[in-house]
Amino acid sequence: MCGIIGYIGKDNSVERLVEGLRALEYRGYDSAGVAFFGESGELIRVKAAGRLANMEEKLKSVSGTSSSHCGIGHTRWATHGAPSDANSHPHGTAALQLVHNGIIENYAGIREELTALGYVFESDTDTEAAAKLLDWYRRTDDSLTAIARLTKRLCGSYAFGIVFAGEPDRIYAVRKDSPLIIGVGDGENFIASDITAILSRTRRYCQLDEGEIAVVKSDGITILKDGVRVEKEIKTALWDTEAAERGGFPHFMLKEIHEEPDAIKKTLGPRISGGLPDFSGEKLDAKALTEASRLHIVACGTAMHAGLIARELFNRLARIPVEVWTASEFRYCDPLVGKGDIVTIISQSGETADSLAALRLAKSKGAKTLAVVNVVGSSIAREADSVLYTLAGPEIAVASTKAYTVQTSLLALLAVDCGLRRGILSEADARALTNELSCRAPEAVGEVISRAEELKLLAGRIKDSEDLFFIGRGIDCALASEGSLKLKEISYIHSEAYAAGELKHGTISLIVPGTPVIALCTVPELVGKMVSNIREVKARGAEVIAIASDIIAEADATLTLPQIDPRLAFLPAAAALQLLAYHTSVSRGCDVDKPRNLAKSVTVE
Ligand code: M6R
Repeated sequence: MCGIIGYIGKDNSVERLVEGLRALEYRGYDSAGVAFFGESGELIRVKAAGRLANMEEKLKSVSGTSSSHCGIGHTRWATHGAPSDANSHPHGTAALQLVHNGIIENYAGIREELTALGYVFESDTDTEAAAKLLDWYRRTDDSLTAIARLTKRLCGSYAFGIVFAGEPDRIYAVRKDSPLIIGVGDGENFIASDITAILSRTRRYCQLDEGEIAVVKSDGITILKDGVRVEKEIKTALWDTEAAERGGFPHFMLKEIHEEPDAIKKTLGPRISGGLPDFSGEKLDAKALTEASRLHIVACGTAMHAGLIARELFNRLARIPVEVWTASEFRYCDPLVGKGDIVTIISQSGETADSLAALRLAKSKGAKTLAVVNVVGSSIAREADSVLYTLAGPEIAVASTKAYTVQTSLLALLAVDCGLRRGILSEADARALTNELSCRAPEAVGEVISRAEELKLLAGRIKDSEDLFFIGRGIDCALASEGSLKLKEISYIHSEAYAAGELKHGTISLIVPGTPVIALCTVPELVGKMVSNIREVKARGAEVIAIASDIIAEADATLTLPQIDPRLAFLPAAAALQLLAYHTSVSRGCDVDKPRNLAKSVTVE
């Protein structure tokens, strides 16, 4: 989704902006632009639809870039208006330029009013309405007052970076419901939509909170709330540039899958003591969790699929029923949650708009909220009553892989903890499962990763298909959803995840000779049932690839999983599905890390 960068300091600001925008490319975008102060303080704007390279090409014919020391930049992911030069950010007038992440919901009315006042609009965007309204206020007020008036008038979500003509020594920033941080450098400062944009220059940053306006100069940062200066804590990001680079791998996705064994260990290690789960170091109401009559999990996409796995685990290991909600549905279905309920929000980025809104809704209804989040200090992490951080490091590829692996591992450990406290698991069983999770699971995932050639061959079997099916029972049904999503999003092959026993109630009509079916068979007591389902689809000509602990003779091919407690076999199986999607995407020549139409962090609803 859209990315924001702003730079002020001694360096050529255009170079710094382009560097920041390149680091933000992973978020997904369709156009890019910058605005900066030229040699004599004039505001120069350059923007272009398409890849960043298009804008860089345009910049070559613009003079004044090398003497610029202050500017703002943006990568746009279209919401209002197609990707085009005109719709790209920055937007503004001779008096100001502005970049925006989020959606201005009342832009149409504002646009009408401003048109009546004589403003002419160049784009179809909601952002331009905000920029021109700011221009209107700025005609009578100073910059800070004009920004404050703007924020009072806008409905929706925004993170703005703003530069005003005649003020080449400062960048203004303000936000609501969309993330924005202020990067603290040495004789230079930044604004950014996320830390990866500035990691190559600084790891120090402070969070801009809602209702605050930042005035960022090269030698200092002032943050004001209702006109009064507020002191902010300067934090240091734990991530480094290396973690956000490809490190010799052809794609971030592959690198991130390879990081999974380590990420599991890092995430679980600090939460285990004496061989048993230990969440005492967390601000977590373990008693409430243990005594809960049911749990709610709310999330989007892959994070929601991690919730589906957690549902199976809490059911089996702790006998706690879990309701899993898609955040965008939870928000508008008047959910039956309230005091006494625990709502868990799972999110890699911690900024997904629907998940954040669901968290706020759950809180407003009196429920206790727990966040399982990867990005430290993100909105969801800050607003939840308690937070369990996954320690996966930055996930850059749009397709979520290691985040899912650590979310499911961490929730598995939590389920073991609850199961032990509730007397569902014996101490010996809890100990054995904890050991399998923290030691054997990383090894097993590593073993799957090392079988690249086998996975490439399997990818070769499906790469030319138009449609395929992922089937499974029990936890494998949850896993099938993720396998299918992964394949769809990066290889553009249509696929469906189905409960294996449900196919014959309609969908089996879609199986024709040659249709690939990926059959997940990690649950020993359900293998017999799966074999019957495999026979059913084989009888209609399907080509079956089984992913199972032992060879399935009825399948056309089996990827046998490493030995592990079957309750945790979903972990190596997930790695296999991720790699299957990865190799299929590569063999089809798709843009693995930046699939079409997608954004990494979905900050609009
Ligand atoms: O940052 P989040 O975990 O909240 O993101 C949720 C989804 O947008 C995300 O998992 C998405 O489905 C991934 N692209 C899937 O690979």
